[in-house]
Amino acid sequence: MKKITSALVALGLGVALSTSVQATSNSDEAVAERIKAVGSVCIEGDDSCGGAAAVAAPVAARSGEKVYATKCAACHDAGVAGAPKFGTSEWADRGAKGIDALLASAINGLNAMPPRGLCADCSDDELKGAIQHMMDSAQ
Ligand code: HEC
Repeated sequence: MKKITSALVALGLGVALSTSVQATSNSDEAVAERIKAVGSVCIEGDDSCGGAAAVAAPVAARSGEKVYATKCAACHDAGVAGAPKFGTSEWADRGAKGIDALLASAINGLNAMPPRGLCADCSDDELKGAIQHMMDSAQ
């Protein structure tokens, strides 16, 4: 709870700061908005202050295609440093290892393949989706 509260205070601070930078109006409302307390406490589950949206919204998993395009394509599109190339039989060969073994190498790294393909915020499932997307591309 403490962590959530400070995250919200930080959020509030960000909002307050950006408000004061952008505000140019001197109406009572605008002034009140500018001089209000920095940060406010929002109780988890109270959606009147945006608490539920800010706290409870689960981060939606990205599709394998999206993770591939944004995180893996840098190497796997062109086959950088021996990376198995998208859309080629190289993925059929790798696919023979099975998705679980491929996922394990993606998580831990393998030779020039960096751990998690440099995607520190990819979940295991997102990595798996990206691998499946590459395996599906095999010709
Ligand atoms: C910096 C370049 C680079 C990036 C970025 C990268 N890879 Fe790789 N990847 C490689 C290289 C190089 C290999 C070949 C490693 C080897 O077999 O020696 C490889 C191999 C793999 C393999 C095959 C592993 C095996 O056991 O045969 C998988 C699966 C894989 N990458 C998944 C991913 C995923 C998923 C991403 C994106 C999240 C990603 N890679 C991003 C360079 C990269």
